Amino acid sequence: MLRLTNRQILLGITGGIAAYKSAELTRMLKKAGADVRVVMTPAAAEFITPLTLQALSGNPVHLQLLDPEAEAGMGHIELARWADLILVAPATADFMARVAAGMGNDLLTTLCLASDAPLCLAPAMNQAMWRDQQTQLNVQALQARGIQLFGPASGEQACGDTGIGRMLEPEALLQAIANQFDYDLLNGKRIVITAGPTREAIDPVRFISNHSSGKMGYALAEAAADAGAEVILISGPVNLHAPAHVKRIMVESAQDMLDAALHTADNCDVFIGAAAVADYRPEFVSTNKLKKGKEESMEIRLIKNADIIATIAALPNKPFTIGFAAETNDVLNYAREKRLRKQLDMIIANDVSIAGIGFNSDENQVTLITSTDEISLPQTSKRQLARQLIEHIAPHLPTTR
Ligand code: C5P
Repeated sequence: MLRLTNRQILLGITGGIAAYKSAELTRMLKKAGADVRVVMTPAAAEFITPLTLQALSGNPVHLQLLDPEAEAGMGHIELARWADLILVAPATADFMARVAAGMGNDLLTTLCLASDAPLCLAPAMNQAMWRDQQTQLNVQALQARGIQLFGPASGEQACGDTGIGRMLEPEALLQAIANQFDYDLLNGKRIVITAGPTREAIDPVRFISNHSSGKMGYALAEAAADAGAEVILISGPVNLHAPAHVKRIMVESAQDMLDAALHTADNCDVFIGAAAVADYRPEFVSTNKLKKGKEESMEIRLIKNADIIATIAALPNKPFTIGFAAETNDVLNYAREKRLRKQLDMIIANDVSIAGIGFNSDENQVTLITSTDEISLPQTSKRQLARQLIEHIAPHLPTTR
């Protein structure tokens, strides 16, 4: 199920008899390619052991809010940010009441409060509890806040009653989760993305390069492929695996990257330049390893590399062209100027002077600039940001080309 590939699903389990089914759901989510982290309430741990969920999810299970060891690993705010979607299955009447009231009195309710990710609940309770007037008021309040309810289903209950209140089966929950992810936003579109640094050779063993990790470009390639696009990722040397369903072309120098870009960008719909291309390269590349001489200094003359994205933006049949502007000061002004100078349709500005975002880190915070709009996106993981960027890019594309 492509829609769930690499999705980060936070599965909350509360204390109901249906908790045993969440083990199967975890297994199915993993099989569908999702990354699953499980959070259990103390009552849930009475029904099913955390060890089972740890083994099935392949990740430590989170149990307590005030656990210094867990906080030192992935703290609750990090966990809240990590999630692409939170599903609580089973969700008891008590849990729903606490979420409806906006309480944060355990780890799971705190995560629901602290996360911007969509929240989905799979209610499971006795039919009389479901019909209870206060439960129904809670349901209305939750739905009014955009919280989705999957189920409950009708049928025989563990307590012997028959009626509405059974948790949906794991297959139905898996499908309901997959349906939350829009994956045809870029159906039929071809996207070329550059990523990572370039290496400009000095001699056979030395080069000039930079610290770009390639993470933003790779996250964009993954998000675009998930959205149904045909993606070509032109990557400089990085330590990352090619995302699923992405055609990757590995290159070294800016010249290699330019050649690959010209070769592929001709009939693409979108070109995204996320690479940190070296501005200059040594004028001469020594065929033999340079020897240390007696001199106290040496000079390497550098000449300018071609601007890849500006070259693509100047093509007669230019794709929708998107560049990045990593700046340390006066970020928006430089980005606006760069967009116009390079004839880009969109530029994504980020302030690389702020620690923890941008260059070589896992998070980013950007402003998206077009000829008509400037949209600031809050700090989040590069993977989540990539999905948001794809959502902002899609409406700019013509339906046919
Ligand atoms: O000019 P500057 O390097 O700040 O511009 C950044 C944007 O231009 C990025 O999108 C980057 O991928 C692209 N670029 C390029 N070729 C270059 C230099 C930058 O495609 N030689």
